[in-house]
Amino acid sequence: MLPNYPPKLSLANLPTEFRPLDRVSELLAGPRIWLKCDDQTGSLVSGNKIRKLEFLMADAKAKGCDTVLTCGGMQSNHCRATAAVAARLGLKCHLILRGPKSQSDSQAVHDVQSCTAKQYQGNLLLDDLCGAEVSVYPPTYYFARMNEIFDEHVKRYQASGHTCYTIPTGGSNGVGLWGYIEAARELVDDFSRSAVSPSSVVCATGSAGTQGGLSLGFQLLDHPMNVIGMAVCDSVEYFDSKIREDVKEWQTLYMPNEPDVAATMNIHTLDRYIGPGYAMGYPELFECIRWLAKNEGVVLDPVYTGKAFYGLTQEIKRGRFDGQSDVVFVHTGGIYGIFPFNEELKGFVQ
Ligand SMILES: Cc1ncc(COP(=O)(O)O)c(C=O)c1O
Repeated sequence: MLPNYPPKLSLANLPTEFRPLDRVSELLAGPRIWLKCDDQTGSLVSGNKIRKLEFLMADAKAKGCDTVLTCGGMQSNHCRATAAVAARLGLKCHLILRGPKSQSDSQAVHDVQSCTAKQYQGNLLLDDLCGAEVSVYPPTYYFARMNEIFDEHVKRYQASGHTCYTIPTGGSNGVGLWGYIEAARELVDDFSRSAVSPSSVVCATGSAGTQGGLSLGFQLLDHPMNVIGMAVCDSVEYFDSKIREDVKEWQTLYMPNEPDVAATMNIHTLDRYIGPGYAMGYPELFECIRWLAKNEGVVLDPVYTGKAFYGLTQEIKRGRFDGQSDVVFVHTGGIYGIFPFNEELKGFVQ
């Protein structure tokens, strides 16, 4: 049972395309792979974040906020999408970014002007073009002091008469979950239009709002879908509790008088395709990205979708989907994240 939808802005190009990848499905000799093209939710705001931002920004507007603050890595897709949407809506945007490991451990905060030419590309370049203010913190300071950093900026904006709305990493919280609750409903429509009944959906998991929203969405629809999140960082245990926390927050906001949904949710995460770490690739991953692009004209990024799709190919080979005729892969975007990996990708030119 779905509760009433909260306010939503119409920002994404929806519904996104749903189509089979027949050439690679045949090469893999497994189930037919269907692509949910959420990389096509827009051009500048392409990817999964815009679905969450439709609800988060509506919440910000409903609360009368004029300034949005959020955080992420220097090449964060979520931050870029937030910057673009804020510009479109006439809101001020401040991005709190995690610098590279090489950024010294001091508390020195960098702005865009002090970034190197190598750093000033992809998503960071787009953040800047969209007028976002950027503060880059050394990683240890960023992780240890995140709440304080947010508080400091919010107080400063309040002192000059602004009203702030803060969005956590990846837009994943009780409000942001709506984006992929809604996507689950959209997928059910896709299935009936295409006359298929997949029983598994695979997506990349970074802050878990996509996996959490899909898992909750299918559960609310009473659909027995197996949503598999391919972790790109952290562990199975971490995502299990992160998703349950977000779902609890969602339930407190929208369905407080119903039985505890988080307690009975099935959450499936795999953490064996992360490789050396978040945003760090490996040869099989780069090869897989090239292979899919060459065979289907579909481009994945090495940080999120590439790892998730590589994981899907390996799980097909391991027999996880044996007996299933169709499986869905959600392409969650991230195209701008490929450019900082040009050297690694070039290593596999044939
Ligand atoms: C392109 C892309 N795909 C997938 C993800 C993971 O989505 P989520 O944060 O909802 O787990 C992200 C998150 O930043 C992303 O940018």
